[in-house]
Amino acid sequence: MIYTVTLNTALDRTLWIKNIHGDDCNRIEEEKRFAGGKGVDISKVLTNLGIASKALGFVGGFAGDELEGLLINEGVPCDFIRISGDTRTNIILNDLTTGEQTIFNARGPQIKPYELMQLIHKIEALERPEIVSISGSLPPGVNPEIYRKIVEIAKSKGAKTIIDTDGEALKAGLQAVPYLIKPNIHELSRLVDKDLKGIEEISEAAAAIVKDGVAIVLVSMGADGILLVSEKENYLATPPKIEVKNTIGAGDSAIAGFIYGLTRGESLQESLRCAVAAGTATTSRPGTALCQKDDFAKLLPLVTSKLI
Ligand SMILES: Nc1ncnc2c1ncn2[C@@H]1O[C@H](COP(=O)(O)OP(=O)(O)OP(=O)(O)O)[C@@H](O)[C@H]1O
Ligand SMILES: [Mg+2]
Repeated sequence: MIYTVTLNTALDRTLWIKNIHGDDCNRIEEEKRFAGGKGVDISKVLTNLGIASKALGFVGGFAGDELEGLLINEGVPCDFIRISGDTRTNIILNDLTTGEQTIFNARGPQIKPYELMQLIHKIEALERPEIVSISGSLPPGVNPEIYRKIVEIAKSKGAKTIIDTDGEALKAGLQAVPYLIKPNIHELSRLVDKDLKGIEEISEAAAAIVKDGVAIVLVSMGADGILLVSEKENYLATPPKIEVKNTIGAGDSAIAGFIYGLTRGESLQESLRCAVAAGTATTSRPGTALCQKDDFAKLLPLVTSKLI
């Protein structure tokens, strides 16, 4: 089974407003709520692509119930730890006149030590995990070391581990040497403390991480696609030019696309093309809609890749 872990799940409240005025009263034209959080996004895209997974993490309060109910209605299996705090609600403002999107991300509820241990015990009890993918920010009260701990436990159970996070959490997770990391250029630059420019500098930085034992580094570069660096082969895959409607969840979708390729036994190069197609499929949809299978299938033949 594939498991995704989201420490800081969120209910995304998306509002559509005409011509937003600051310091004034604005009328909401339309409003929708979505189950959010980076690991949750990966599970949603895997479901869209027909791959079974289970979303793990913390939920609490009415917002947590709503998030779980939304996932059940979307057919996304989940097994969350109930916490005493309330799941955060993020606000996404879409200006229908200018097309601008403004996002307000909440910090998230305080996670108590015993709640953290419930998650750890759940991961210790997983039966035959094939892939454990951990993504996103840390909620208040959780030390970055949780990333190292989860990777260690998942590895000891034979799982391939994937990390998509930033800063101290990424550094801590790397200590346990995961199978794959997917930083974007900014996250990789922060990790190596250097403003990386150009494919050469980026692949050099990624190669140093591979040398430390990480099997695959995927560096996502927005419209320029994804660079895959591994011990034996490096590839660059590039999406076709499309009209971008929204980029929220593009990175998460790319991870889901790569997992899709891996679980179907595809080569690294082909799995990379799946990652780019899934990421770009998400950017072709408005709002917070994620990669749909039809869009993915149409885009996949248009993704180019080359050995570098
Ligand atoms: N402007 C774009 N045009 C085409 N494809 C895009 C664009 N932006 C992102 N993508 C697709 O999505 C993938 C991941 O995007 P990106 O590099 O922006 O990830 P990220 O910064 O981790 O995103 P996230 O905000 O989800 O964390 C890209 O490799 C590409 O396939
Ligand atoms: Mg990202």
